[in-house]
Amino acid sequence: MGDGGGPVVLGIETSCDETAVGVVAGSLLLSSVLSSQVEAHARFGGVVPEVAARAHVEAIRPLVHDALRQAGIHQTQVDAIAATRGPGLVGSLVVGFGFAKAFAWTLDKPFLGIDHMEGHLFAPRLEHPGYQPPAVVLLASGGHSQIIHVPEWGRYTEMGRTIDDAAGEAFDKLARFMGLGYPGGPAIDRAAASGDPTAITFPRALGDRPFDLSFSGLKTSVTTYLAKAARADMVPPLGDVAASIQEAIVDVLVEKTFNAVDATGVGRVAGGGGVLANTRLRRRLAEVAADRGVELFLPSPALCTDNGAMIAAAACFHLGDGSRSGWDADVDPGLRLG
Ligand code: KG4
Ligand code: ZN
Repeated sequence: MGDGGGPVVLGIETSCDETAVGVVAGSLLLSSVLSSQVEAHARFGGVVPEVAARAHVEAIRPLVHDALRQAGIHQTQVDAIAATRGPGLVGSLVVGFGFAKAFAWTLDKPFLGIDHMEGHLFAPRLEHPGYQPPAVVLLASGGHSQIIHVPEWGRYTEMGRTIDDAAGEAFDKLARFMGLGYPGGPAIDRAAASGDPTAITFPRALGDRPFDLSFSGLKTSVTTYLAKAARADMVPPLGDVAASIQEAIVDVLVEKTFNAVDATGVGRVAGGGGVLANTRLRRRLAEVAADRGVELFLPSPALCTDNGAMIAAAACFHLGDGSRSGWDADVDPGLRLG
């Protein structure tokens, strides 16, 4: 057991392009380390699954050591080992999942396979003890965008989701189109800082559906706008385009999240996933939450993006409710929360 924090859990996350390991004691964060593959994938403009899987194999063992050392925990003091079960790239998932199972077996400790999105949903707890159900949680990452109602831990009702691209995917694709590189979210966030968000009005889709999201129309609208500008030999200020794209994405994420707050009557909103690291989204959520008198719980940016500590935090809850995964458990690349 940790120092008053609850069981010590080591969490491993390898669903996409970050090898990440974290150690928590209950909801107390002890360490969170990662090895980013951004450089390995940047020249391809996106994640290459074979490259990702190989990089996880190389990074995982030293990272587990780093995470334990930084936490000041010896491996024999760990109460359970957890790893992401899905959703994600199958070749990447099996590296972390297989390593975690073997490690747990060797230590003779319980092993738990965790839903990656449930990890994002638990991430705010590591910094905000006041984050408790009932809550509405906005989960927005590179592969998923969902609005989840959490009446109690472990029970998740999906109120809305994207019907096409995820919010992070929209950032990534549009940044690539604009020549801003990969990953696109941070690049647009930076470029937008010097731009006017009202310069260009890009569409906000699905105004008739309270909780669902769609970003493919925005993609078409931006690419058409930029192609037209190029034909007219007009170079629109990059900052204005970035800020206007960001505003269109942020507008719908904020609106739909608070539609869910209105519909459920909850007094707490939380967020998780890489897109929640976005400067403008964080500010707008904070403004609307303050306006409505709703409590807001956002992880710091480093815990919004993929990390191992969030997997360990979700596992802590499941350890308490008695769940365990068997030694024959397998990854599930298509896992869906809610
Ligand atoms: O949760 P995450 O690290 O990985 C997945 O589970 O997909 O999310 C990654 C996504 C990427 O699409 C990335 O462009 C986006 O989060 N992202 C951002 C920002 N930082 C990361 N999007 C907008 N603004 C940011 N500052
Ligand atoms: Zn993620």
